[in-house]
Amino acid sequence: PFVVTENCIKCKHTDCVEVCPVDCFHEGPNFLVIDPDECIDCTLCEPECPVNAIFPEDDVPAGQENFVALNAELAKAWPVLTVRKDPPEDAAEWDGKPDKLQYLER
Ligand code: SF4
Ligand code: F3S
Repeated sequence: PFVVTENCIKCKHTDCVEVCPVDCFHEGPNFLVIDPDECIDCTLCEPECPVNAIFPEDDVPAGQENFVALNAELAKAWPVLTVRKDPPEDAAEWDGKPDKLQYLER
């Protein structure tokens, strides 16, 4: 499956959700995840993310391997999102900031 990684936190553009043919994006307060049991590896979401936060499971950035398990865990707890919404007003300021996992809201 594909995985949403750290740079989505506090950016949350949600462009990704509209292209998913199997509606496997789940929404939390400031981050989205992909349900690995539903993703069919179609690759459509990957280029939609303006901050390049989506990767194939086998190709997540070094040091972010924990996001594979985090997507699986949070997909079970959070509701499905299928329609794009406006990103946070300060989304651009957070693009590329390091160590954003500490800001993840559940
Ligand atoms: Fe959905 Fe395809 Fe992205 Fe998987 S790869 S989350 S099926 S758009
Ligand atoms: Fe996050 Fe990118 Fe989707 S910022 S919500 S993975 S478009």
